[in-house]
Amino acid sequence: MRPLSRCLTVLPAALILCAVRPLSAQRPAAEPKIDSLLARMTLEEKLGQLNQVSVDGQPNAEQLDLARKGLVGSFLNLAGADATHAAQHVAVTESRLHIPLILGLDVIHGYRTIFPIPLGEAASWDPEAVEAAAHVAAKEAAAAGVHWTFAPMVDIARDPRWGRIAEGSGEDPYLGSALAAARVRGFQGKDLRAPDAVLATVKHFAAYGGAEGGRDYNTVDLSERTLREAYLPPYHAAIDAGAGSVMTSFNEIGGIPSTASPWLMTTLLRREWGFKGFVVSDWTAVAELLNHGVAGSRADAGKLALEAGVDMDMVSRIYVSDLPALVRAGRIPVAVVNEAVRRVLRAKAALGLFDDPDHGATPERERAALLAPEHRQLARRVAEESIVLLKNEGQVLPLATRVKTLAVIGPLADDKVSALGSWPGRGDPQDALTPLAGIKQRAGSVSVVYAKGCGITDTSTAGFADAVAAAKQADVAVLVLGEAGDMSGEAASRAELDLPGVQERLLEAVQATGTPVVLVVNSGRPLTIAWAAEHVPAIVESWFLGVETGPALAAVLFGDVSPSGKLPVTFPRAVGQIPLYYNHKNTGRPTGPDKYSSKYIDLPVTPLFPFGHGLSYTTFSYSDLRLAPRITPTGTLRVSVAVTNTGSREAAEVVQLYVHDEVASVTRPVRALAGFRRVSLKPGEARTVEFSLTAKELGLYNQDMKFVVEPGKFRVFVGGSSVGGLEGEFEVAPVR
Ligand code: BGC
Repeated sequence: MRPLSRCLTVLPAALILCAVRPLSAQRPAAEPKIDSLLARMTLEEKLGQLNQVSVDGQPNAEQLDLARKGLVGSFLNLAGADATHAAQHVAVTESRLHIPLILGLDVIHGYRTIFPIPLGEAASWDPEAVEAAAHVAAKEAAAAGVHWTFAPMVDIARDPRWGRIAEGSGEDPYLGSALAAARVRGFQGKDLRAPDAVLATVKHFAAYGGAEGGRDYNTVDLSERTLREAYLPPYHAAIDAGAGSVMTSFNEIGGIPSTASPWLMTTLLRREWGFKGFVVSDWTAVAELLNHGVAGSRADAGKLALEAGVDMDMVSRIYVSDLPALVRAGRIPVAVVNEAVRRVLRAKAALGLFDDPDHGATPERERAALLAPEHRQLARRVAEESIVLLKNEGQVLPLATRVKTLAVIGPLADDKVSALGSWPGRGDPQDALTPLAGIKQRAGSVSVVYAKGCGITDTSTAGFADAVAAAKQADVAVLVLGEAGDMSGEAASRAELDLPGVQERLLEAVQATGTPVVLVVNSGRPLTIAWAAEHVPAIVESWFLGVETGPALAAVLFGDVSPSGKLPVTFPRAVGQIPLYYNHKNTGRPTGPDKYSSKYIDLPVTPLFPFGHGLSYTTFSYSDLRLAPRITPTGTLRVSVAVTNTGSREAAEVVQLYVHDEVASVTRPVRALAGFRRVSLKPGEARTVEFSLTAKELGLYNQDMKFVVEPGKFRVFVGGSSVGGLEGEFEVAPVR
């Protein structure tokens, strides 16, 4: 072990890469106004600002009355320029202090122009595109009167049984951090007052993805080390990127529900990370503290949450109804209430709502923004980049010009609803182009025969005969199989991850015809498709790609675009391998031929498809890995590699760099992603790709939980996936 005294302590906060724009610093001019409002507010009005109420389409009479009385600070699930204006009008003209509402909605992967689900977007490994997609979502939502989105969801997920893996960026903290920051920038833009900006919410704080057994809402029990190394970085990155709000998570961590955790909401978030925005609970999470068994009454639940640092109560209505008595009885200091109100009012001021309660939304702007042609265009590009080619034996893809008849088969081939995936905002399935529609549009002289084969979760094989007949008359059969759009997302955990219903049997039946098969998997998570991986020549993972599903898929199948997506999450062979993630530790008995090494007796430990994997229609070669042999702990190591397109098609490659700290004072992952770059190369073209490694990538939390860079040897791996690649090594020199 290295002497700790010789290590350099590096505060992660000092390593912030993105511009920090704390909310309070954005509109300091608003403080006197906030002070004066606070001075005039009754206790009920103060707690009213902390009360968030969900409306169903339009606020009802009781909800409007709350707005009139100043007993609600925010509505959620209200959208549309006319509807939001009407509600806001009541708040700003009929309430005593004329405080505007902040209107929130889950705009997760698009408002009306629906983009790929976040896990799909993560497969693009393209922060710029992801930022642009979030910006489009913000532009549409803001035009429709929404001020505040409950996104990005940045929960790391190592368990694909958990349905909400679909909403995040997968298993890796580095990729997750890059995309979290990109989404915050996209949603918030440079100025929250702009009519195309919405306030972002980092959620769900914290470690919601660590649910035991992958069962939604379940207990989480993680060491502080795993929390800090694997789960916290994306939240931190989003906050460093300026996210204005944070949402608590439903789960407990090690006995303390997040919504009642002063350590999470105050010590870590505000003191350690310097967060200046406000915290909202998740839906009824304050009331759920009773179920967790840490509060014996609604009032106690409210006190726990508010004092932990949860500023706004989503839906429980505990703050507004149960806390006034506690404050009056001196059981909650009024200063705690004031501070929470101040944070909420600051956000309203930062959005400019005191000056323009509609935040620029008008019916005209809304009409012009929704589904604007350039938005669809971007949705198509992002969808194309999100598609991952998992397998392509015998180059079944791209479809050859000799293909004259194409069979399109499967329950998801023409499913407009599923194309949008979970949390489709105000997306309309009628806007979605399905795989079948996209293929038909692109097919030209190729004739397309379609057979559904079976339903998604059907047990009936009655449709198989038609599907087999379609395949028999075709040169290639494209099977679009997988989960329905709502089989992932919230409250959609699965214990089995195979193709639902009789779909695998349909696949087997079509494969048995001898017609070459292309399997297109639609899913919000990795599925266990071991049979397909062994028998089917070509497999494409296409997640749920949004309104442009069909055209994007067709462009890839026909070879107009080479697939370039890479897996943001490991695909296991079987559920029994879960949790399975690439950045695991070595253990004292690393996997090997010896019986007493870490493995299973009935299945390999390796995944079906590893993190970072994704094929192309061209080939890339990596050469000329260069790096200095030594750096100091505060130094920057430049790593460069030459990447050449050695095939015959223009294509993009995601160049990935991983590091491994060989000997450290604590155990380290066998590999950790430390850089990536998407490059587009013409046939024969070579490009030198450069990376910089600093303390941020090389550091670790030592035994005292201090973030340090320890001297010693490191390995780097550079390639097109988390397996293999060119290898190099360097040393971090001891501090003299
Ligand atoms: C989800 C959140 C969401 C909230 C509001 C909750 O059930 O966990 O992610 O933002 O509802 O819709």
